[in-house]
Amino acid sequence: MKKYEEAKKLPFEELKGISQKTIENHYGKLYQGYVKKWQEIQERLKNADKSTANAVFSDLRELKLEEGFVADAVLLHEAYFDILGGGGEPKGEIIDGITKDFNSFDDWQTEFKALGLAARGWVILAFDFNDGKLRNYIADFHNQGGIWRASPILVLDVYEHAYFMDYGADRKSYIEAFFQNLNWETISKKFSKIAKK
Ligand SMILES: [Fe+2]
Repeated sequence: MKKYEEAKKLPFEELKGISQKTIENHYGKLYQGYVKKWQEIQERLKNADKSTANAVFSDLRELKLEEGFVADAVLLHEAYFDILGGGGEPKGEIIDGITKDFNSFDDWQTEFKALGLAARGWVILAFDFNDGKLRNYIADFHNQGGIWRASPILVLDVYEHAYFMDYGADRKSYIEAFFQNLNWETISKKFSKIAKK
């Protein structure tokens, strides 16, 4: 069960090609900062004035909008960190799923990496419960680009904070490093659990 009010622990101690400094900032400051903001918004929602609700500007509107922004930031960052710390060749049931819906693993990988250059925030391989297929999606903001009832399986963060200290503007090399760190056992287990529901 997900608890928004608690930060999830990292499943790794260090990564290849992504520095501790980047992880400390990304996980320690940004991700944990989102968890705290989620708590703050919940507190403020308890006393939000419903009598002044308004679609141009009102406390209730702003708090609910930012609640969605922050919740998606928490969920996507957890999905990103959860699948790192592995390495090795891709394996498991996820390979069959990807091959079925993308023609081949290479075709999927080519599209996913290209989307990493096309997106401004996130690339997400998701299982779409609406028709039972895997699809790649992109998002420019945490709370944009998502499809209702599509569940993230493999998530890549392409905001500059994820790579700029290590790679400058060379996002392509960061994406390669991301792939080198993927934990395919975790990804495959997640896929199997979600797809069999
Ligand atoms: Fe991030």
